Amino acid sequence: MARIKVKTAKEIELIRDAGALAAETLIRAGEMVKPGVCTLEIDEFIGEYTKKHGGISACMGYHGYPRYACISINEVICHGIPSEKTILKDGDIVNIDITSILNGYHGDTSAMFYAGKPSREARELVDCARECMEAGIEAAGKTGARYSDIGNVIQDIADEHDYGVVEDYCGHGIGRGFHEEPTVYHFATGARLPLIEVGHVFTVEPMINAGRPATKTLADGWTAVTRDGSLSAQWEHTVVRTKDGIEILTLPR
Ligand code: MF3
Ligand code: CO
Ligand code: CO
Repeated sequence: MARIKVKTAKEIELIRDAGALAAETLIRAGEMVKPGVCTLEIDEFIGEYTKKHGGISACMGYHGYPRYACISINEVICHGIPSEKTILKDGDIVNIDITSILNGYHGDTSAMFYAGKPSREARELVDCARECMEAGIEAAGKTGARYSDIGNVIQDIADEHDYGVVEDYCGHGIGRGFHEEPTVYHFATGARLPLIEVGHVFTVEPMINAGRPATKTLADGWTAVTRDGSLSAQWEHTVVRTKDGIEILTLPR
């Protein structure tokens, strides 16, 4: 693995500012999730709100990605492209993933929302995915924690529910760059990965499938779906390792 950067206090402050903007945008975007709303409308809001607050939406144009954010519904794991044709319906589970750039630094966060009333199975999956993210973050804050501890604890929780942990998409270091070293695995790779050092800034963003972990990409080149058509849920925070644990950098102010 290439060198993982140790960020300065000043850089962490700038990532915290970008993270707060992403989190505040995400809350407001989530309030728009309702049956009958198209995902393009939510995306347009995200682009406008980000700009109004002095930021840039990192996804727009990233490797050719065409929209401000990713909105992924039901069996879509991640990278769902907002569209006028994608209209939310009662019972949908919706991930909104927002990455904001402010003063040159990135903040990346996502959360799940419900359009109308979800099924019990959907709610259980969404709750478990959140528990996986939280447990991964907590594991990263322990004394002597390694990157492998994140995937190990998430794998254990998902296994208990017989859910699949997506392996094809991972967390990542973040800062001036959107996706920096290291790759953060959410599953148990079996390897003993590097120590998480004070000043490392990275995301924890497990994607948990109600069925098997396998993914496929649709013809648009972006939309990642579960191969077996099962539901998928994801939560994401950007975090920094501190001397006494972990600080979440993507919280609203
Ligand atoms: N925000 C996603 C992540 O969590 C990346 C989206 S890249 C895009 O890493 F190009 F699809 F927007
Ligand atoms: Co993200
Ligand atoms: Co991310």
